[in-house]
Amino acid sequence: MLADRNVSVPGSEIRKIFNMVVGRTDVFDMTVGIPDFDTPDHIKEAAKQAIDDGYTRYTHNAGLIEVREALAKKLKRDNGIDANPENEVMCTAGGMGALVLANLVLVNPGDEVLYPEPGFVSHYAHIKLAEGIPVPIQLKKENGFGMTAEDVERSITDKTKMIVLNSPNNPSGGITSNSEMKKIADLCIENDIYVVADEAYEKFRYIGEKPIYIGALPGMKERTASLFSLSKSYAMTGWRIGAVTGSSEIIGAMTKLQEHIIAMPTTISQKAAEAAVAGPQDCVEEMLQTFAKRRDIITKGLNAIEGVELDPPGGAFYVFPDISAYGMKSYDLVLKIMKETNVITVHGSAFGKFGEGFIRLCYAVSSERINEALSRLDTFLPKLL
Ligand SMILES: Cc1ncc(COP(=O)(O)O)c(C=O)c1O
Repeated sequence: MLADRNVSVPGSEIRKIFNMVVGRTDVFDMTVGIPDFDTPDHIKEAAKQAIDDGYTRYTHNAGLIEVREALAKKLKRDNGIDANPENEVMCTAGGMGALVLANLVLVNPGDEVLYPEPGFVSHYAHIKLAEGIPVPIQLKKENGFGMTAEDVERSITDKTKMIVLNSPNNPSGGITSNSEMKKIADLCIENDIYVVADEAYEKFRYIGEKPIYIGALPGMKERTASLFSLSKSYAMTGWRIGAVTGSSEIIGAMTKLQEHIIAMPTTISQKAAEAAVAGPQDCVEEMLQTFAKRRDIITKGLNAIEGVELDPPGGAFYVFPDISAYGMKSYDLVLKIMKETNVITVHGSAFGKFGEGFIRLCYAVSSERINEALSRLDTFLPKLL
């Protein structure tokens, strides 16, 4: 009954774990990447005001012009990207909305698309949905899970159409260095490859140099769709609002397609996004500081457990420790941990075959819960050695 396209797109392995414990209050859930903060008050107020002011109707398929103008200013301020709000920026239903549209407008059936692995589960799914051929680029532990141009170059063929980048990376927190990013950009220009730059975790970086954004590099604008998510930056996962920028050709095509899928993201969320990017940014800084403390606690705590090995992640709010010392598949380990400790983690293989040997823990939960989870893991895991 169902179309082949549906069969080829896998369901999320993270949800599989999450659904096993949904509704249980006795577990330490460290699965899904949902910041535990509430959306900042000034953003919620802007949304309430938007309803009262009548922002309850359809808008332009790319979003309200004043929202796009605010986004264009944010892109210049935070990312060094010049974008014309008229035709080079659009509002999407989360970063996810941008990802799927970018794949659908850029990938032809049979095109090869490079993507990071371990990686965000939807990257693979979107390539399959567009009937492209997913080609994983392994992010290696020894490189801090950053992507290298050498690994990219090795995977390029005459069928390569596009590359998906994600730094900081979900699930590892890995950061691709500026020098590698520039080399990857050069490879894309030389080989006529398009880029989808998934900047969902742009605000959550704990170490290293000030990042350069690939969409801001010379010669890249015309071949890059850079997407940004309000979900993580402003604790707005449920608002379903994101943004994407690129050439007018790419954004025009994505806008046309968005019309036929969702028309445009919710008008109220658009106004909330405007308040988020144009308003005070100290809420982001506060979240970053809190995550940084939690990152230190969880990194130290995990490394103190016999058999666990973890280099401090550069960004995002996940840790991806090496658990190969326990000599079992990550999925089996995650189930054992769940049964014995009530700590819920995600197996590394959920993020592709190169994720095997690792598990992911999301530390967007309180320090108290992190400490309790660590103590339970410390009591249980060494028994497996
Ligand atoms: C790397 C990455 N990209 C994109 C998304 C999509 O986020 P949203 O659609 O909520 O903006 C996520 C969500 O977890 C993610 O981890």
